[in-house]
Amino acid sequence: MATKLSPTLIKTLDILNDCTIHSGEEMAQKLNISRAAIWKIIKHLKEYNISIASSHHGYQLEAPLMLYDKKKIEELLHYPNIQLEVFESISSTNDYLKSKDVTSRLDFCLAEYQTKGRGRLGRTWISPFGKNIMLSFSCVFNKDISELSGLSLVIGILVAQALNNFDSKFNAMLKWPNDLLLNNVKVGGILVDLLAEANGSCKAVVGLGLNVNMRDEKLEGVERTWTSLDQFTHQTLDRNLIVAQIINSLAEGLEGFTKSGLKPYMQIWDTFDMLKDRTIALESAGLRVEGVGKGITKEGHLLVLAFGDMKSFSSGEATLLRY
Ligand code: BTN
Repeated sequence: MATKLSPTLIKTLDILNDCTIHSGEEMAQKLNISRAAIWKIIKHLKEYNISIASSHHGYQLEAPLMLYDKKKIEELLHYPNIQLEVFESISSTNDYLKSKDVTSRLDFCLAEYQTKGRGRLGRTWISPFGKNIMLSFSCVFNKDISELSGLSLVIGILVAQALNNFDSKFNAMLKWPNDLLLNNVKVGGILVDLLAEANGSCKAVVGLGLNVNMRDEKLEGVERTWTSLDQFTHQTLDRNLIVAQIINSLAEGLEGFTKSGLKPYMQIWDTFDMLKDRTIALESAGLRVEGVGKGITKEGHLLVLAFGDMKSFSSGEATLLRY
């Protein structure tokens, strides 16, 4: 079930965010609701594993938690005809947009929590409530599905550029096809779902999962190493500013992709490509190939030089063999 982010939840956290003790009575008065309603909200927040101490003095949040602010994001957008929906909880932002008609140039949707977040290659995407970015957008391209093979690489470039413009300390790089990396460690990933329409056009639903304010969470079900943006800034980041920067970058850059495809981005890809001229292993369709990463083809396939043979791959999972 999808739940929109409620103003009362945001206001409750606004009160608790100073991390001092607040009595139920004081909060009920400030929000003009009953103490029982406050108790229900606290219980609801605890169900998301948010640390709130309850005593007979009141409630105390362990660490501040700033939720998305739709209005603030919208005020920072530079492009018209963009729609944004913000959910407290949803199964998956990609699945939501897949089942919904596109109503503007770019329809965006954000979630504080996903119950069935999906990653690439059939994996799940797990992220705690209110800390990271889970963002999807849908748009229609008047192109055949075969012309969209480079789309996910362009999205990666646009997100990496947005992050580096936000803070040059990030120096975000890309691991083909869709991983965002900081200092060689995964900070985010992109999932592209393409749906061919009956009239020959194609609907793309693109999802971004980006770790932002996640310090030392133990995430059940997550085995790989990860990092987050705040590990590089050493301070909690306002996700609204980052979301706005990313949406602006996508809105601008996708114009270029619509007109000219991957071509104008191929050289830019090289500057973000952390596999270029490195010794890598690629697992694709049950096969493992070791070689040297040699960039991408005009279709966005990965080139690997293995024992003097140049091979290209349209999908797979790459790892660096030497750092
Ligand atoms: C990857 O495997 O690296 C891609 C992860 C993509 C996760 C995002 S979170 C928002 C959107 N909704 C989903 O269910 N998945 C994507």
